[in-house]
Amino acid sequence: MAAKKVIETKKLSKVFKNGEIEVHALTDINILIEDGEFVAIMGASGSGKSTLLNILGCLDKPSDGEYFLDGVFVNNLNKNQLAAIRNQKIGFIFQSYNLLPRTTALENVELPLVYNRTGEFLNPSEHAKKALEKVGLGNRIYHKTNQLSGGEQQRVAIARALVNNPALILSDEATGNLDSKASIEVADLFVKLNDLGKTILMITHESDIAQFAKRLIYLRDGRVLTDELIKNRSTKESAIRELGLTE
Ligand SMILES: Nc1ncnc2c1ncn2[C@@H]1O[C@H](COP(=O)(O)OP(=O)(O)OP(=O)(O)O)[C@@H](O)[C@H]1O
Ligand SMILES: [Mg+2]
Repeated sequence: MAAKKVIETKKLSKVFKNGEIEVHALTDINILIEDGEFVAIMGASGSGKSTLLNILGCLDKPSDGEYFLDGVFVNNLNKNQLAAIRNQKIGFIFQSYNLLPRTTALENVELPLVYNRTGEFLNPSEHAKKALEKVGLGNRIYHKTNQLSGGEQQRVAIARALVNNPALILSDEATGNLDSKASIEVADLFVKLNDLGKTILMITHESDIAQFAKRLIYLRDGRVLTDELIKNRSTKESAIRELGLTE
């Protein structure tokens, strides 16, 4: 059986208009990502990475071209339908963790389930606990977010992204605020989640973090410059060795 297509774009373009000035942020993007892939997106500042992620995450609409998310043709959906598909199918992770302050890790992770109307998650705290265990924070569930390190806060955000079992994890510079060691921990966590079958699309500036993925798409001036499989993927051990850090 052919793998399921999680993301398929056809000649996707995005033009921003500010008065007289037009910015062609994305031009003719054709990307196919199947179930179980782990893809990194790199490119210089302004190359269109976040614009692409926002469209793929149904936070913004393309100016032209087609987008299918998990088999659904997204272009024609209205605001409410977009919000619904976003909640069901996508887990987001951003550079700033966007957690509620002075609130426990557990409550932060439960939150998406409170808004979930599918009836799949009758016991939110049980699901939230499991997600926190998955990211290695089973012993921090009652910590308030301000009592956690940056790396731990990002792992809470990852647990929150996972908790309703989305088809796709989208991450925009998840390691942008973290030191090398915590960045490696997050990249390694993505590998583990991918090993469990999660489809992950991760934007990063850092090529040593990108090397944890299975495939690398390079953007330049809003176009796909290269799209290749990664041959020698990094592992937590190899990355730590390369940086001269200790475990
Ligand atoms: N809302 C907007 N209005 C006008 N222009 C925009 C808007 N958002 C992005 N742009 C422009 O589109 C281009 C791509 O921006 P984008 O944020 O996607 O880049 P990026 O690759 O994520 O960069 P960075 O690595 O700095 O985050 C840039 O030239 C930017 O100035
Ligand atoms: Mg960006």
